[in-house]
Amino acid sequence: MIMFMRLDRLLCEMNIGSRSKVKAYITKGQVLVDGVKAVKPEMQVDENTVVIRYCGKEYRYRPYVYYMMNKPPGVVSATFDKKDKTVLDLLRERLREQSREEGMAAEDITVPVKDIFPVGRLDKDTVGLLLLTNDGELAHRLLSPKKHVPKTYLVRTDRPVGEEGLTLLTDGVAIGENEVTLPAKVSVADEENTYFITITEGKYHQVKRMFQAVGAKVIYLKRLSMGTLMLDENLREGQIRELTEKEVADLC
Ligand code: URA
Repeated sequence: MIMFMRLDRLLCEMNIGSRSKVKAYITKGQVLVDGVKAVKPEMQVDENTVVIRYCGKEYRYRPYVYYMMNKPPGVVSATFDKKDKTVLDLLRERLREQSREEGMAAEDITVPVKDIFPVGRLDKDTVGLLLLTNDGELAHRLLSPKKHVPKTYLVRTDRPVGEEGLTLLTDGVAIGENEVTLPAKVSVADEENTYFITITEGKYHQVKRMFQAVGAKVIYLKRLSMGTLMLDENLREGQIRELTEKEVADLC
């Protein structure tokens, strides 16, 4: 399907520069559109197929972006918050840093994060895997209660959970909802009072409430995976990276 967009807007969305800068690049003849020098910023191009060359680099437009974040503690899973730093603030910071590292001048850096949102919520003190995207359909599929997408967490508690507690967590535990929780996979990790749990629902504070129901308080919670997507072990807390094509294809 042909989708037209103004050339200067497209270059901005590709993070090539600010609107005024990209207009200047175009009028100076520095931009090739499908191999042909472009001179009009208002030129309409097909965003789905166009190949841009600027400064020896090739660019293609991607309407959807997918970032993996290793969410640090103290940051809220929201696009905006009056009080707290959000994962979107953090994404902006990291993209800015990456553009700087790629040699972009500060005044040229635009951070196109409009329409990007976190797929689901992690509590402010929870760390680990968070997917950020502008692909609403994928987010819907991952979050839909009907799809039962598995999410695995590493959980540390203030006291050991006994055999009975582990069985309850596995079979279903009452957390104050109409129904007990759906069956979960639970295993004991190598460290003291530490467990892996895989749940297929996404109720508010679910993991904390499940452990509370068996008499243990969660003191550390880290999400390790969501569906087929696994947290990249090389990402330190607060870091982000784009998903690989395979990761996106597997999720979709
Ligand atoms: N369950 C919780 O209790 N908190 C989270 O952040 C995620 C799952």
